[in-house]
Amino acid sequence: MTELPAQLTQDSLLDLWHSTGKHGIYQQLPAFLVRDFGVTAPVDERWRGDRTRLDYLRTRIDFSGLRVVDIGANTGFFSLTLAHDDAAQVTAVEPDPANSAFLRAVAQHYRLGQMRTSSTPVTLDTVAALPESDLVLLLNVLHHAGDDFDRSHVPEPGALAAYMTDYLGRLARTTHRMVFQLGYNWCGNKATPVLPGVREPYAMLDYLQPVMQAAGWVIESAALRFDVDDPRMVEISTDPRRPALQTPSDELLAQPGVQELLGGRPLTRVSEFYARPLLICRKAG
Ligand SMILES: C[S@@+](CC[C@H](N)C(=O)[O-])C[C@H]1O[C@@H](n2cnc3c(N)ncnc32)[C@H](O)[C@@H]1O
Repeated sequence: MTELPAQLTQDSLLDLWHSTGKHGIYQQLPAFLVRDFGVTAPVDERWRGDRTRLDYLRTRIDFSGLRVVDIGANTGFFSLTLAHDDAAQVTAVEPDPANSAFLRAVAQHYRLGQMRTSSTPVTLDTVAALPESDLVLLLNVLHHAGDDFDRSHVPEPGALAAYMTDYLGRLARTTHRMVFQLGYNWCGNKATPVLPGVREPYAMLDYLQPVMQAAGWVIESAALRFDVDDPRMVEISTDPRRPALQTPSDELLAQPGVQELLGGRPLTRVSEFYARPLLICRKAG
């Protein structure tokens, strides 16, 4: 286990944040760290960001005091923020040793007694043993199954849907609600797309709907950020009988960047990351 500095300073905080691992230099720093330490993370939020997601989620979910399990907590943008700002009781699961050391160092510095960290990967065999919670964050982790973990279960992208059905069904035994996001590229590799040749949010929704249904989840809402220069997220219809994207509501059409998306032209103003629908799901029944 990485030894933590006795005291967190601006330098030691950034040193700890700078992981050279596959999932390093990924998330923004939580706002309270930016404020207290006067540092920002060198991540270009126009292409990949966290504030947008959190701001949107706060409009739909009251996190105060909630029992949250964050699978793939990375450097804790969500886990640390929710524990520090919302007094949520957070279990942050992050196997990358450097990311995990960062989480522990910040939690220790702020004496976040309501936050627990674990570096044990959550796999198909262990997911049902997660602590009981009100909400699970499972953001951008499962397309790494087959590389980071569970290699024997997901030897190729075609195996992912059945694997996720099993994994999410087992997860449903531990919680009531889930926030979910999936990347378009299996193992983060453009050469192995999850949906062959397609990077389109409704195609992703069509792919995920039967997975969620078979696993015992109902998709409550799906949101996207449509424009690199506009941090708002916009909800899109989750109804399988929805009108095609070509006939959206006036409200949706008025959002910046949406026209490009709907016209079927290249999504020049939407990055791969922001084109991943952010789903809020509840357990069926
Ligand atoms: C692409 S990042 C996403 C981080 C974060 N959830 C987000 O969306 O901002 C994936 C994270 O999951 C972690 N991870 C990989 N395999 C995992 C596993 N089996 N269980 C828990 N976390 C895992 C990685 O170390 C990494 O921090």
